[in-house]
Amino acid sequence: MKNYKKPFLVLGASLLLFACSKPQIIENEEPMKVVDHHTYAMPNVAVITHLDWDASIDFDSKTISGTATFTISKSESANQIILDINGLSIKEVKAADGELLSFTVGENKPFLGSPLVIQLNANTEKFSISYSTSPEAEALQWLNTKQTADEKTPFLFTQSEAILARSWVPVQDSPGIRFTYNAHVKVPKGMLALMSATNPTEVSEDGNYNFVMDKPIPAYLLALAVGTIEYQKVGTRTGVYAEPSILKAAAYEFADMEQMVEAAEKLYGPYQWGVYDLIVLPPSFPFGGMENPRLTFATPTILAGDRSLVSLVAHELAHSWSGNLVTNATWDDFWLNEGFTVYFEERIMESLYGRDYSEMLATLSLQDLKHEIESITASANPEDTKLKLDLEGRNPDDGMTSIAYDKGYYFLRLLEEKVGRKNFDVFLKDYFTSNAFHSMTTEAFIIQLNEKLFEKNGIMVDEQLYKDWIYGAGLPDNCPQPVSDKFEKVEEVLNSWEAGTPIQELIKPEDVIIKKWSSHEWIHFLRNLPENMTLEQMNILDEYFQFTYSGNSEILTAWMVHVIKHEYEPGYKNLENFLIHTGRRKFLTPLYGEMTKTEASLKMARAIYTKARPNYHYVSVNTLDKMLDWQE
Ligand code: BES
Ligand code: ZN
Repeated sequence: MKNYKKPFLVLGASLLLFACSKPQIIENEEPMKVVDHHTYAMPNVAVITHLDWDASIDFDSKTISGTATFTISKSESANQIILDINGLSIKEVKAADGELLSFTVGENKPFLGSPLVIQLNANTEKFSISYSTSPEAEALQWLNTKQTADEKTPFLFTQSEAILARSWVPVQDSPGIRFTYNAHVKVPKGMLALMSATNPTEVSEDGNYNFVMDKPIPAYLLALAVGTIEYQKVGTRTGVYAEPSILKAAAYEFADMEQMVEAAEKLYGPYQWGVYDLIVLPPSFPFGGMENPRLTFATPTILAGDRSLVSLVAHELAHSWSGNLVTNATWDDFWLNEGFTVYFEERIMESLYGRDYSEMLATLSLQDLKHEIESITASANPEDTKLKLDLEGRNPDDGMTSIAYDKGYYFLRLLEEKVGRKNFDVFLKDYFTSNAFHSMTTEAFIIQLNEKLFEKNGIMVDEQLYKDWIYGAGLPDNCPQPVSDKFEKVEEVLNSWEAGTPIQELIKPEDVIIKKWSSHEWIHFLRNLPENMTLEQMNILDEYFQFTYSGNSEILTAWMVHVIKHEYEPGYKNLENFLIHTGRRKFLTPLYGEMTKTEASLKMARAIYTKARPNYHYVSVNTLDKMLDWQE
């Protein structure tokens, strides 16, 4: 058994040594036991260690067909291996010597898909699965020519996190199982193919591409993009891929990427993945970014023209340590991926742009957190405000709220404040180094924290800390408070405006033109506009600042919430336009959500959704169908 790490016996022993904070607090689970409820795989019996993927991409039938050849490691007595599949059609399974192996496909369960159970011979070390995907595969988004920026060719991209990899590759789809991979992919001539691996920078003559990922990764980091794509270098290890018409804008926007990698390495150790590139996808990409190793996938909505939304790059880059090197063992431990990443992101932003800047981000994060806690507490799953989740029997996507991100961030910030930044950084650097290429449970993390942060620095820790922050709901009283002078100035402007001072006196025309405020200040301004704003006031603001036509997607979304709330009709046309052309779920949910609040706006939401839905990815459709009570 090579790749499937069993770290917890060792950690368990060290736990006994640390008497002053005996973790009776670990009430949910024994630290030794890792149970991923979202895979059929039984890695203790037989586990994959390497994948050779040979595939051909067919835009006409919207299918991928090919073979997945696995090298495995198994216990002596193992006579079968179980993989996850969802909607795949399996043609045959062969051993390396060509012998056919029998297999069965078990019951298909919602979002989990089916187990693919393959019978093994005593000496089977390798086998190949021939298969094809379904046109409805949830991880795949097939865009027609019109849905791309350049309208030259169709486009395909994947989104595997959390458990969608199984809809395009038969695989042990658990974040606790890692494997290396090679791939050969055939695409239509003239198109470029990219993966989360070594990548080409130019189109091949015959549409054949080869890829290598020689570091073990979990299945949710498998990724593929195919389309009319070009490359531009921005630094020694960094570069940008995009459709030709937006390549220049993308290279401008992400000019600081190399510096971000350097800042990150300075904080927590060498970047382990070789190059760091980013691809700007078409607008239907459902996320802001996805940390596919060596090649971050990103939404075009961060191309603001003024580099104001690049904290997203810092975030995805940070995942090269938190997530991609040290990986949440199960989706219940999702905060270990995202909370650490937000913390690391803010540290990168602080080192590039200063504390003033990162404190604005932290303040927005606290606002998000408070809203999220309020809304989850009132929902059917109030337990989801705990950092350690219990997603058994549920779609893991349901638990992926900003709790993991923002409460996770504030917990780590509290630890930093408790032990001092210097000690905390030493701990984190060691954490990423000594756990690299392995998975981590919340419980194992607590043990490392006790031993390597608190005990080592002679600091007593009360177990209540973990009870409150990790296993408790809501926001604990000792949450750190960010301080942003810049936001205080924004609040002063808002107060004076509410008291009757004309906006033109508070923010001078020249300040608007020279863009004195960053987009974060504008977002803070917009989020804090008075509830009882009149249409006339909205008109004045809109004429002066042109919010309805903002090219900054974050500012536009914050404004459009008011457009809906106050029935500000001059904004409707652009609201519809934005919703039809943007598939990023983070923007769609607050806007459609606001529209569900009155009969009239719900009607408008449904009319827009009818037109927009075909442009959205499964991930966004899945959320919005529920929100709008949509029946196909
Ligand atoms: N890994 C996430 C995206 C993700 C999370 C995909 C859960 C599927 C399931 C990525 O790193 C992320 O957090 N993206 C954020 C941007 C970030 C700056 C907060 C997003 O897409 O909004
Ligand atoms: Zn993330």
